[in-house]
Amino acid sequence: MNNRYRTDVLIIGSGAAGLAAALRVADRARVVVLSKDRIDGGSTNRAQGGIAAVTGPADSPEDHIRDTIRAGAGLCNEEIVRYAVENGPGIIERLVGYGLSFDTDREAAFHLTREGGHSHRRVLHVADHTGQAIEGTLTQRALEHPGIEFMIGRVAIDVITTGKLGLSPQRAIGAYVYNRATDDVELIQASNVVLATGGASKVYLYTSNPDGATGDGTAMAWRAGCRVSNMEFNQFHPTCLYHPHAKSFLISEAVRGEGGRLLLPNGQRFMDRFDPRGELASRDIVARAIDHEMKRLGADCVYLDISHRSVDFIESHFPTIRARCERFGIDMTTEPIPVVPAAHYTCGGVLVDQHGATDVPGLYAIGETACTGLHGANRLASNSLLECMVFAHAAADHILQRLDRSKVRLPPAPAWDASRVTDSDEDVVLSHNWDELRRFMWDYVGIVRTNKRLERAFRRIKLLKKEVHEYYANHHISNDLIELRNVILVAELMVRCAMSRRESRGLHYTLDYPHTLNRAVPSVLSPSTDSWDFLQPLAARRSRAKS
Ligand code: FAD
Ligand code: SIN
Repeated sequence: MNNRYRTDVLIIGSGAAGLAAALRVADRARVVVLSKDRIDGGSTNRAQGGIAAVTGPADSPEDHIRDTIRAGAGLCNEEIVRYAVENGPGIIERLVGYGLSFDTDREAAFHLTREGGHSHRRVLHVADHTGQAIEGTLTQRALEHPGIEFMIGRVAIDVITTGKLGLSPQRAIGAYVYNRATDDVELIQASNVVLATGGASKVYLYTSNPDGATGDGTAMAWRAGCRVSNMEFNQFHPTCLYHPHAKSFLISEAVRGEGGRLLLPNGQRFMDRFDPRGELASRDIVARAIDHEMKRLGADCVYLDISHRSVDFIESHFPTIRARCERFGIDMTTEPIPVVPAAHYTCGGVLVDQHGATDVPGLYAIGETACTGLHGANRLASNSLLECMVFAHAAADHILQRLDRSKVRLPPAPAWDASRVTDSDEDVVLSHNWDELRRFMWDYVGIVRTNKRLERAFRRIKLLKKEVHEYYANHHISNDLIELRNVILVAELMVRCAMSRRESRGLHYTLDYPHTLNRAVPSVLSPSTDSWDFLQPLAARRSRAKS
C-alpha cells in the first residue's frame, strides 16, 4: 500500500481558514487538505451569528478597530487589527463572488445584526447558520478545483522538520498522518505546511465546540519548536442551551443583539448591574456576570428571553435555534430559554506574524489555532470568521511568493516506525484521563481562577502527561490517543500562561489578582526555554513571601 504522498502545500484542516487558504493557492500549487472527520466537521460549520465587516454607511473601519481593541483589553496588536478590519470588505466580496448569499434587507443591502461589544450593526449573516453557508460555499468551490485534493478521516500526528532529522536549515517538510479507516500512518511531504486545525475548547467539560477541537495545531507547532502566546484567554460563550442532552448547543449572541434579555430564575433582568451596555457588554463580562449570579443564587442556569419579538421575526432570524430548542421541548417564541456559559473559543495559539508564518520556516498557522494579535485578551464577537479568511489569504500569498524556492529543497523523511509498539490493552486509561482532564480544567481553570486552583490543575496535568507519554511511546496510535496527547499539552500551556499572569485582564480573571496592571504584556511561551519546573519557582516565591 502506498503510504507516502508529496504535494506543494499541505493544509491541515478544512474549516474556513484551511479552505480559504487552499482556494487562494490552488491555481499555482498542488494542495492537499486534511480533515479529521468530515470536511465540515470543524467549528466553522457551527457558526451562527455571522462575520463582522464594515459594510454599512453608518459604520467605519475606525469604529470596528476601536471596538476590537476595547474588547481585547489592551492586548490587541493594533497593526494586525487594522489589517484585518481593512481587509474585511474585500473578504465579503470574495465570499459573495464564491456564491454566498448573505441575508439582505428590503433595500437589498446586507442585513446587519448586532452582537456584544459592537458599537454598530456590523455582522453579516445567513439567518443563524452563517457558518454552514460559508463552509458549504468554500467546500463546493474547493471540490471543483482540480488543484485541491481532500484526504478526509486523516489525523495529523506531528509536523516533520529538517531539525528533527538532524538537518539544517530548520524547515517544515511534511507531516505524519493517521488514517482512521486503515489504521495506518501515512507520510505526506510538502514544501509548506499550514496548520488550520481550529481551537482547543474540548479541553473543557462543557463546550460549544465539536469533539475534534483538541488544539492539535498548537500542540504540533509547539513540538515542532514554535512559540505559543496568550493561551490563558479561553472565551466562554455566555449563552449555551442548558439541557442534559443538548451538548452545550449555542444560543447565538445575535439573539441578544436583536433584543433578547437575560433573566434570573425569578424573571428579573440583571446585566445592567454589571455593565451599562447590559446584555450587549462584551462576552467576558456577560459570562462572568452569569457565573456570579448562578453561584450567588445556587441556580443551575439563567434564562434568555426573546419571546416579546414576533413569531415571524424569530423564525426568519433564528430558524436553527428555534428548531433545536423545540427538540428539547422549549418554545422560544413563548418562553425564555435556559442558558449557561460554556467554553467557546481559544484566543491564544501559535504565535504568528501578519502572514501566518510561525517560528519554523515553511510552517504556517491560520484561523483559531493561531495567535495573530487580533483578539488580545478577549475576542470581539464574529471577528473569528473574519480572521480565518483574512489571514488564510495572507499566508497563501506568502507561500506563493516563496513557492519556487521552497520546492527545490525537500529532503526525504523516514516512514513512521511502529516496530516497537504493541496493541493497547487498556483503553480505559485513555477514557479515564480524558474525563479527568476536562473536569478539572472546568473546575480549576474556568471563568474565575485562583493560584491554588491553577496549581492543583498543573499538578494533575503533570501526572497525566507522564502517563500518556508512556502510553504513546508503547502502544499503537489511535485517534483518541493523538487527541489526548495534544489536549493535555494544550491544557499545560493554558495553565502555564495563566500562572504567569499576575493580574486579571479580559478573559483571565483571578481572585488572587483582581486588578488590571497598567502595562499590558502578552504571555509568550517558548519550547526552547520554558521547562517543566515552572511550578517550583512559584511555590518558592510564595513560601518566601510568607516567612
Ligand atoms: P475549524 O472550522 O474548527 O476547522 C478545523 C479543521 O481542522 C477541521 O476540518 C478538523 O477536522 C481539522 N483538524 C483538526 N485537527 C486535525 C488534525 N490533527 N489532523 C487533521 N485535521 C485536523 N465565529 C464567528 O466569527 N462568528 C460566529 O458566528 C461564530 N459562531 C460560532 C458558533 C459556534 C457554535 C462555534 C463553536 C464557534 C463559533 N465561532 C464564530 C468561532 C468560529 O466558528 C471558529 O473560530 C472558526 O470557524 C474556526 O475556523 P478554523 O478554520 O480555524 O477551524
Ligand atoms: C454567536 O453567534 O453568538 C457566536 C459568535 C461568535 O462566536 O463570534
